[in-house]
Amino acid sequence: MNSSYQPLFQPIRLRRGAELKNRIIMAPMTHFSSHPDGTVSDDEIRYYERRAGGVSMVITACVFVSPSGKGFPGEFGAERDERIEGLSRLASAIKRQGAKAVLQIFHGGRACAPDLVPNRDVVSASDVAEEKEGAPTPRPLTEPEIVQIVRDFGEATRRAIEAGFDGVELHGANGYLIQQFYSPYTNKRNDRFGGSRENRLTFPLMIVDEVTRVVKEHAKNEFLIGYRFSPEEAHEQGLKMEDTNVLIDALKSKALDYLHVSATDYRTPPKSGSDQSTSRIALIVMRAGNDLPVIGVGSIKTPDDAIDAQSSTGCALIALGREIIIEPDWVQKVERGDEHAIATELSLSDQERLVVPTPLWNAITHTPGWFPIAMSSNA
Ligand SMILES: Cc1cc2nc3c(=O)[nH]c(=O)nc-3n(C[C@H](O)[C@H](O)[C@H](O)COP(=O)(O)O)c2cc1C
Repeated sequence: MNSSYQPLFQPIRLRRGAELKNRIIMAPMTHFSSHPDGTVSDDEIRYYERRAGGVSMVITACVFVSPSGKGFPGEFGAERDERIEGLSRLASAIKRQGAKAVLQIFHGGRACAPDLVPNRDVVSASDVAEEKEGAPTPRPLTEPEIVQIVRDFGEATRRAIEAGFDGVELHGANGYLIQQFYSPYTNKRNDRFGGSRENRLTFPLMIVDEVTRVVKEHAKNEFLIGYRFSPEEAHEQGLKMEDTNVLIDALKSKALDYLHVSATDYRTPPKSGSDQSTSRIALIVMRAGNDLPVIGVGSIKTPDDAIDAQSSTGCALIALGREIIIEPDWVQKVERGDEHAIATELSLSDQERLVVPTPLWNAITHTPGWFPIAMSSNA
C-alpha cells in the first residue's frame, strides 16, 4: 500500500466499545429493491455482500420504523417482528464479509408518498408541505402519535439487535421526520415539541434516549448508535449552522458512537454563520470535539480525496456513497497498492458486473448528472 494512505487504515475504537478495522464506511443508500411488503430481498442482499468486503462498516439504506413512515417504493421495514428474519439474513451477509452492519432507521414524515402510507395519511410536525408540485399537505401529529413514533424507533432498534446488527444510525438528515421536527421552517407547533429551539429538539432527543434505553436493555455486546444530520437547509427559514451547533452540543452529552454529516461535497462551506472560510464538516468536527468521531462524506472518489477530506476537515471516518456503487473493491484496491485501477465512473453495461439491483440501476441511469456515466459505453 502507498504509505500516504495509511491513515485510512488505522483501526478506531468507538465510544461504546466497538472497534472498526479501518476508516472507510459504506454510506447509507436507498436502493428501492426490497419486496413491496417491506421485507428484504435476495437482490439487495447480493448488492450489500458485493460491497462489504473492504469497508469497516456498512450503513444500510434507511428502513421505516412505523407504517406511516415509509418513504420510498421498495424500501424495507423494521416496523414489525415479522421483518426480523429478513433483517437477520441481511446482517449476516454483511458481517460474513468482515464489516460491521448498521441499520439506518427512519420515518419519512411529510416526504412520504400518500400511496405508501396507511389511509394516505401523510404526517409531520406541522402542516407544511414540501415545495414540489403535487406534494401533500401533511397532518400535524398529535402528542400520543409522537410518543408512539418515538417508541417505534425503540422497537426498530430492538429488532435490529435481535436480527444481529452491530448498531443503528438515526436518520436525522435529508429533510425527513426527525429533521422536520428540528427545523423552524417545518415545525410550527406551539406545544412542548415546537416553538423555541429547545422545544424543537425534544423529539430528536427523545428518540436518542429511547434508542439508548432499548440498547441498554436488549443488547448483549457493544451495540453502536450513530446520528446523521444535515447541517443547513435550503429554505431561508430553515436550519442554519447555529442550530446545528446546538444540536451537536445536545448530542455530545448522549451516549452516541459517532455523528454523521449528510453532504454532497465534503469541501462545501456553510451558507450561514460567521466562518465561511472553513468547510461545514470541519466546523462540525471542531464543535463535536475529540471524543465524538464524525463521519465525513460527499464526492469522495479517490484515496487522495479521502486523505484530503480527513486532513482538511479532521473527520475521523470517511463514508463512500456513489463511489462504492461504482467501485465495490475500493478499499481492497487501495490496500494492495492498486489505486490506479479504481473506477470513478460507470458504464451503462456495468449493472450485472457491479451487482446493482434493477430499480436502483434504473434510478441511477435515468437521473442525469447524479452519477458519472462514461460516454464511451458500448451498451
Ligand atoms: C442512491 C442513493 C441513495 C441514498 N439514500 C440515502 C439514505 O437512504 N439515507 C441517507 O442518509 N442518505 C442517503 N443518500 C445520501 C448518501 O448517503 C451520501 O450522503 C451522498 O450520496 C453523498 O455522498 P457521495 O458523494 O459519496 O455519494 C443516498 C445517496 C444515493 C446516491
